[in-house]
Amino acid sequence: LHKPTLRHFLNTQDFSKQELCDILQLMTLLKQARRDNAVPPLFKNKSVAMIFEQPSTRTRVSFETAATILGGHALFLSPKDIHLGAKESLEDTARVLSRMCDVIMARVNHHETVAGLAEHSTVPVINGLCDWLHPTQIMADLFTMQEHLPEGKTLSDLTVAFVGDATNVASSLMFACTQFGMTFKHICPERFKAPQKWIDIALNNCETSGGKLVITDDTNAVKNCDVVVADSFYWFGQEDEKDIRLSTFIPDYVVTEEMMHKAGPNALFMHCLPANDQRECTREVMESANSIIFDEAENRLTAQMALLVYFSHKDIAIPSQERK
Ligand code: CP
Repeated sequence: LHKPTLRHFLNTQDFSKQELCDILQLMTLLKQARRDNAVPPLFKNKSVAMIFEQPSTRTRVSFETAATILGGHALFLSPKDIHLGAKESLEDTARVLSRMCDVIMARVNHHETVAGLAEHSTVPVINGLCDWLHPTQIMADLFTMQEHLPEGKTLSDLTVAFVGDATNVASSLMFACTQFGMTFKHICPERFKAPQKWIDIALNNCETSGGKLVITDDTNAVKNCDVVVADSFYWFGQEDEKDIRLSTFIPDYVVTEEMMHKAGPNALFMHCLPANDQRECTREVMESANSIIFDEAENRLTAQMALLVYFSHKDIAIPSQERK
């Protein structure tokens, strides 16, 4: 695998299905190597600068741990610790970090910030969540679905139902699932449905991949889905809409045991976490035998290992494996 030009990981849409499959394959190899306590030091003497404008448990711990396991170092940089946006421009911060670090990872309030960092950085920038997208989460999600595929099925055979708000996880999942040829259903009240721009991107993916996009407010659409996904009903910056959001989504769009029963006996439950149990999903669903939320969380580490390796090397030999 040869990557001659500088690439950033802002959106899975910027990568072909084959490139995403290469990253999934790298995840498989690195997860096994971690199990065998034999992870090669592929990030040795390298560092990742991690800018966090919002709190994080999984993203921070997984990137920091991945850098350490791979023999490198991660720097946690909150707005309190660095000059970004106060005493220093985005452009200058990106240029300075590029001179010292090998990768920049940023969790930001607005997509423009991570895009601006990428514009001025001379090292790869990874989007660790913004108001529009959460691509590193989705690499973990695809990998977790792949680990739990029903007998004889491939990713493209899956039907995934995302129940709830048009969050950053919803958009990235909508894009990746349709790129992989899956059926993706966004089940959401009309008032909070995904912007047309997202729908157009996903429909375009479907034309190439043979996937299918369903946008509906009818929760009966979970019937016969392989995976049901829940996420928060409001996020940072939406606090003033909290009441209207909770009263619109609750109780109809809460993933309950009844809803999972409707999806089918083998339907799996996923959530990027943190979860507000008894809000977007019940604790019973989170703790059920079909819940794979903690495998999904663990695979954030698997994904970050692969992303740090993929983006810090120009040439990597990955046994290529095309996925259907
Ligand atoms: N899913 C996710 O991004 O978790 P954190 O907010 O804890 O990083």
